[in-house]
Amino acid sequence: MISPVQKIKERLSIQDVVSSYIKLEKAGTNLKAKCPFHNEKTPSFFISPDRGGYYCFGCGAKGDIFTFVQEFEGLDFRGALKLLADRAGVPLGEYSPMDKKNQSEKEKLYIIMEEATDYYSANLAGFKEAQTYLKSRGLEEKTVQDFRIGFAKDDWRDLYNYLKSKNYSDREIELAGLAKKPDVENKNMYDRFRNRIMFPIADSSGRVIAFSGRIFTDDGKSAKYLNSPETPIFSKSSVLYGIDKAKDSIRKNNFSILVEGQMDLILSHQAGFRNTVATSGTALSDSVVSKENAVSNLGLLRRLSGNIVLAFDADSAGLSASDRAGRIALSIGMDVKSAILPEGVDPADLILKSGADAWKEAVRNSKHIILFLLEKAIKAAKGDERKANKEIREKILPYVAALDSSIEKSHFIKKISDASGVPEVALVEDLKKVEQLNKEEKREINEAEENQSKMFRKDYIERRLLGIAFWQEKIKEPKIDPRSIFDKFKDTIDHYKDFKEDLIFEAEVFYANNENLPSDVDEMLSNLDEEYLNEDLAKKMKELHFAQEEKNKDKEALILKAIDEIVKKRESIKSVRFNKK
Ligand code: UTP
Ligand code: MN
Repeated sequence: MISPVQKIKERLSIQDVVSSYIKLEKAGTNLKAKCPFHNEKTPSFFISPDRGGYYCFGCGAKGDIFTFVQEFEGLDFRGALKLLADRAGVPLGEYSPMDKKNQSEKEKLYIIMEEATDYYSANLAGFKEAQTYLKSRGLEEKTVQDFRIGFAKDDWRDLYNYLKSKNYSDREIELAGLAKKPDVENKNMYDRFRNRIMFPIADSSGRVIAFSGRIFTDDGKSAKYLNSPETPIFSKSSVLYGIDKAKDSIRKNNFSILVEGQMDLILSHQAGFRNTVATSGTALSDSVVSKENAVSNLGLLRRLSGNIVLAFDADSAGLSASDRAGRIALSIGMDVKSAILPEGVDPADLILKSGADAWKEAVRNSKHIILFLLEKAIKAAKGDERKANKEIREKILPYVAALDSSIEKSHFIKKISDASGVPEVALVEDLKKVEQLNKEEKREINEAEENQSKMFRKDYIERRLLGIAFWQEKIKEPKIDPRSIFDKFKDTIDHYKDFKEDLIFEAEVFYANNENLPSDVDEMLSNLDEEYLNEDLAKKMKELHFAQEEKNKDKEALILKAIDEIVKKRESIKSVRFNKK
């Protein structure tokens, strides 16, 4: 019997999987592409069909189909497993996220969220008034079903009682963020969402991880939208609403549309723009949310397509949200446009009042964000030249500064000069000042980008080996001695302790029933040694480059000697492996 992972790998090759996300070119027996994990103009991302893996010489990204999907889609291992198993048509059986036998805490939370989604949706089906409301907002019945929109009854314990009847524990219900414990002791738990239209929020593999509930009858004091709290499966800021439904369309149409609200997103999808995602009021606009999360959300969109259209309400809150998203998107090298909406009108309003065609028009007429802002500034200044110049300096040059390429920068400087009459030299002078001021922000964004990838990459071989060790440690008849692995990771093991359950799960799905575990582990250990040497080598190459630039002959010689040693070590690892075979 082979593991589900082996089955999936048999059915889906690395080139099948990667080419469904990005364009590949031939490069000898390998394939290459522009790396989706960092911003580059020439391809340094290589795929080896023989080894079933990929490697990027630019940023060091590496792995197999699972790590690729994880990193590309921003999913954990289980999410990638679900997605690839669905695609390959391999049943996961006991490893399925929906299998109740599975004891992991996260797994239970996914099931409970699924259960709640169905329950809310049945509530809606039995409640005419809420259906009428959704209809009045322009939603068709099919849309309501596609998005699994539901209703939380005006009752303190409706969902809670239902989940209890299904044998979920108080702890699980609370952990899922669906009910709360009152502060007073000995009082019953009560539902978090009451009398609200419920929108399930899914991750990019389609698993429901949270809810956003819209107030149904306004009592004048409750928030219009109430969202799930942070839970083990939901980090507020790291998800884009609608991404599961939008991702294929973003790829196909080669642009994404970013809107602010749930209703905006749903109506945009209904109007035919399935490439729409929403920030849901938290992810990108909230200044409390770290740049890291904004970068991670926009990074996912960039991997799907470099082109984005922002369609935020033109009121001031909407503008500051798009301000942030726009600047970050430009900094990570995206082409950013703004859709032109009438003042005070969001996409949902526009579609309801003026129809899908008006929305199509707004998207079609979208302008590069810099030109969009430029026109706005000049219009607002009403011929007052000094006012216009001030606006340009304060509101527009920061966007130019955020641009990634200097060719682009001078292109827009010229446009601004033409439109405003300010000489290019003067603009360039000011731009330099702005760049100096924004240096810190840019550095932060770059750093956030790097941290993103490090988070995923922190060596996947290392991760799998540790997973095997944790797993073998807890079973009765281990096939390998976990100590041989633990010894190797004495320094890094603490970092992984929090993910122990996840690592064990990953190891089990990969290696259950694997007769060759001991030799596989040996091979991974030696692969890892080789990886470490490759990393050292890359470092030395960089040093060599600087030494050559400095024309420091002595340094150069030393570095060359070190390189020679690394290469020799690497050869000896390879030959040991060869002789074993
Ligand atoms: P808006 O206040 O613009 O609401 O908030 P909306 O989208 O137009 O709401 P509808 O159309 O009346 O239903 C924009 C987004 O900000 C988030 C929601 O995601 C909302 O869609 N938001 C808003 C919250 O998270 N909490 C709130 O209290 C309000
Ligand atoms: Mn609205």
